[in-house]
Amino acid sequence: MATSFQTDIAPMFAPFQANMMWRFNLADYDTVKTNALMIYGRLTGTTGNPMPAPPMPPLDPSLIALFQQWMTEGCPP
Ligand code: HEM
Repeated sequence: MATSFQTDIAPMFAPFQANMMWRFNLADYDTVKTNALMIYGRLTGTTGNPMPAPPMPPLDPSLIALFQQWMTEGCPP
């Protein structure tokens, strides 16, 4: 099924938006699209410190896969 920022990505990031406002707005489509690769690296813990930051648990692998699919599909709004 096709992904979209509105239906898949924004709800996934909503609980963490306040914690990241100092740097960027995870609820903003253009911001997440522009920083998608960096965000993906943090979600998987392969680039930099893992996000969501400890002691919060990582996102469920199915949600990380969904974010990857959204990138593959060209970050649709
Ligand atoms: C899914 C949720 C989150 C995503 C996608 C995310 C994404 C990111 C990204 C991409 C950076 C790097 C920014 C840069 O290098 O310019 C970052 C840094 C940071 N984030 Fe998050 N974040 C999330 C949740 C959180 C939460 C819940 C907290 C705090 C409770 C947090 C605290 C921080 C802090 C303190 C940094 C700066 C230190 C560092 O670079 O590791 N983030 N985050």
